[in-house]
Amino acid sequence: MNSIKQIPKAEIHVHLEATISPDLCRKLAKRNNVDLSEDLFAGQYVYAWEDFYDFLKQYDIITSVIHTPDDYRELTYNYLKKCAADHVIYVEAMISSTHAKLQGMTYNSFLEGVIEGANQAREEFGIVSKYIMNGIRHLGPDSVFQTAEEVLNNPHFDLVGFGLAGDELHFPAKLFTKTFDILKKENFPITIHAGEWDGPQSIRDAINLLHAKRLGHGVRCIEDPDLVEELRNSDIVLETCPTSNVATKIYPSYEGHPVKELFNQGLKITVNSDDPPFFNATIGGEYEVMANLGLSEDELKSLTRNAIKYAFCDQHTKSKLLKKI
Ligand code: HPA
Ligand code: ZN
Repeated sequence: MNSIKQIPKAEIHVHLEATISPDLCRKLAKRNNVDLSEDLFAGQYVYAWEDFYDFLKQYDIITSVIHTPDDYRELTYNYLKKCAADHVIYVEAMISSTHAKLQGMTYNSFLEGVIEGANQAREEFGIVSKYIMNGIRHLGPDSVFQTAEEVLNNPHFDLVGFGLAGDELHFPAKLFTKTFDILKKENFPITIHAGEWDGPQSIRDAINLLHAKRLGHGVRCIEDPDLVEELRNSDIVLETCPTSNVATKIYPSYEGHPVKELFNQGLKITVNSDDPPFFNATIGGEYEVMANLGLSEDELKSLTRNAIKYAFCDQHTKSKLLKKI
């Protein structure tokens, strides 16, 4: 096999705020007068956390150093530069206006910062990126509704979808139907984190109640063979994040993770880094994981093809990207 590094890659499940490197985190903390404890940098991973709920807490602390649109520009540019060096041709990143507004930015100013970084990276490295706005489950239905309203009232060519992240177990799909019915009515593409911290029913609800076209993780469908069969026969793609799931101890190891079995059963699989420094993950590393689980070079390329085929961007962009694989 050629070096895995050379394989054209794509990623459609990464939380932009969570891509922040420790260097940028320290730089922004200093510039924005945020007092960060050194303990945050002293764990097994780049950022220290103990379990999934502690991860969500530390995530909010680390990302609270991002204060201005120019911070967002730098964050976006830095991540895309790193991806381009790994031969990533397309990134569809989740962003959070909720986090940005908590730090005093407006919806439009933060989005402009992101897009400026994206344009700069595209001009310098040729990497294409689009964005998905996330609602945050554990902030409740009103917060998610307001986020969706703002998205629908401010259309932007590079903002191509709406996602739902956060605490899947305690904030089930049925709380959010009003928001997702509206998004569906407006034909706005939807991806839902489901089948990560909760099981098959959460996946069924994401599809039937929230109109998900893609599943963030989705891997716990393996617990219900009928659901696996339904997904196999559907147009729904799984945004799997094996390293994330091993780090958060949903599965004990890569060998114990269902991604290879789901791939073998013919589900539409992509691999993704999720929250890279929190799990010491990279998108290139996820392709390596799949190679180690036995995927051939052609099969690795099929992961990239799936990511682009099921991306939420326009057809013209997809056609151009598919020619690069
Ligand atoms: N799961 C749920 N919510 C999240 C995650 C995740 O992996 N990362 C950031 N928000
Ligand atoms: Zn995620």
